[in-house]
Amino acid sequence: MGDSLNNLAVFKTMKIGFIGGGNMARAIAEGIVQKGLAPYSSMYVSGPHEENLKEWKTKGVQITTENGVVVEKSSLIFLAVKPHILPAAIANVYDTISDWELTDNKLFVSVLAGVKLEALESILTRLEGSRVIRVMPNTPMMVGAGCSVYCPGQHATDHDSFVVKTILEVSGLCQLVPESMIDAVGALTGCGPAFIYLIIEAMSDGAVMMGVPRNMATNFAAQTVLGAAKMVQQTGKSTGVLKEEVCSPGGTTITGIHALESGGVRAAIMNAIEASTKKSEELGRK
Ligand SMILES: NC(=O)c1ccc[n+]([C@@H]2O[C@H](COP(=O)([O-])OP(=O)(O)OC[C@H]3O[C@@H](n4cnc5c(N)ncnc54)[C@H](OP(=O)(O)O)[C@@H]3O)[C@@H](O)[C@H]2O)c1
Repeated sequence: MGDSLNNLAVFKTMKIGFIGGGNMARAIAEGIVQKGLAPYSSMYVSGPHEENLKEWKTKGVQITTENGVVVEKSSLIFLAVKPHILPAAIANVYDTISDWELTDNKLFVSVLAGVKLEALESILTRLEGSRVIRVMPNTPMMVGAGCSVYCPGQHATDHDSFVVKTILEVSGLCQLVPESMIDAVGALTGCGPAFIYLIIEAMSDGAVMMGVPRNMATNFAAQTVLGAAKMVQQTGKSTGVLKEEVCSPGGTTITGIHALESGGVRAAIMNAIEASTKKSEELGRK
């Protein structure tokens, strides 16, 4: 990519905007600030309800209800609204621009599930020289354990990719993927945290049912998931081998595994990834 970590200085002067200030925008902004790439004072955020932007204001972010202001003020703009809101959000950009000379050569980064680069580039066509990168981040970015992918549009430069990868990488893993893969990856990494919360909750429920206090059960369940994930990442062993290592013949774990398989857990999780991928594709078609 030709850029190195020495180029992080680029963030010090960069104005970063968010159209939509919900969960995903907060997770990305938090990562940028926590890792010292840029301060909240260099950011702009817009949304239709000023009262919902109070938390941003308290942190020192400039807030506005006019999406056009975010585009005018920022060189890098995250599109962080729900997919079906995008047309209205961009219409509001065009309606609220007060100086079109301030809108050239912007880099837009879309976190929207399903919405294709071609559609994004087409909806932003009135902004001269605009470039687009599509990303799929996830909320564990908030705690530095994100898992994100990105896919540059036809006009995005290597430097644009460097900027976006750097922002997402400070909060966890970030990898380039072809656009054809992004809906499935989004189902895995974007929706995946919710699937795992559900599993942690169910593990906790089971332990509570067997007499363990709730707080202890939830903490132990979360730590067990964290530990198992680290074993997968750090030992280099396959999940099958790791599972076998915990299952002694005739033991407690294999008995539990049998209960899980009888309940169809494996198929249910595969179905969940398939259903979320299809939903993402469907949202993109609308
Ligand atoms: N959450 C995740 O884990 C995750 C993961 C990967 C990708 N994504 C993607 O991230 C995007 C945002 O998701 P989210 O979870 O952050 O949703 P969210 O928390 O509901 O945030 C959406 C934000 O958009 C604002 N908004 C609504 N209409 C707007 C408009 N016309 N102009 C500007 N802002 C507007 C909302 O403001 P009000 O609340 O005031 O209406 C809200 O702050 C989605 O497209 C989703 O596909 C999310």
